[in-house]
Amino acid sequence: MRVIVADHPLITHKLTYLRDERTDSPTFRRLAEELVTLLAYEATRDVRTEPFSINTPVAPTVGIKLANPKPLVVPILRAGLGMLEGMVRLLPSAEVGFLGMMRNEETLEAVTYANRLPDDLSGRQVYVVDPMLATGGTLAMAIEYLAERGARDITCVTLLSAPEGIAAVEQATRTISPPVTLVTGAVDERLNEHGYIVPGLGDAGDRLYG
Ligand code: PRP
Repeated sequence: MRVIVADHPLITHKLTYLRDERTDSPTFRRLAEELVTLLAYEATRDVRTEPFSINTPVAPTVGIKLANPKPLVVPILRAGLGMLEGMVRLLPSAEVGFLGMMRNEETLEAVTYANRLPDDLSGRQVYVVDPMLATGGTLAMAIEYLAERGARDITCVTLLSAPEGIAAVEQATRTISPPVTLVTGAVDERLNEHGYIVPGLGDAGDRLYG
């Protein structure tokens, strides 16, 4: 897995306010949206394009446009919804599919409760968005499922990741080709005994939606 930690002062600045327990829900939502726009810039570096001929007022030239089929953005509900707007702002022509997944807070195992994806994922370039990569169970399950359905080029965007979760996703996706890319705003210290990222930001879903 290719891991890109988007190390930028504006990202760290916004993450600091996002982490702060005094930050209220409206501010948290705004910050999550702003952060994903910055991360998406990095995550879409390899978005598929094709040549596109135009005429400027002065001369003909060849630029690029997004290739077909357009990229698919998959937020993992609930918390991933908080990153959807920011992502599609940068990729307005993207298609959107939804995966509803939650962690059993006792076993920490991921469970899928909703699935609304296009029928045909063969060869599709997919961007999975979820604020938190904790144990990695959720993201690993989502990636494995998308790859099984034929997605060929999977990039995950998270605001925060735990080293344990990165290792778990790396292990679970090692046979997927081309390798999965993870773009994250920060890699924190560790997970605590409840599977929370330390220092982290608490429960992203609760902080976004109460
Ligand atoms: C959170 C988060 C991830 C998952 C990460 O969702 O948004 O989806 O936990 O944990 P993991 O890496 O240990 O699997 P949660 O299960 O709290 O659901 P929610 O988004 O509906 O709040």
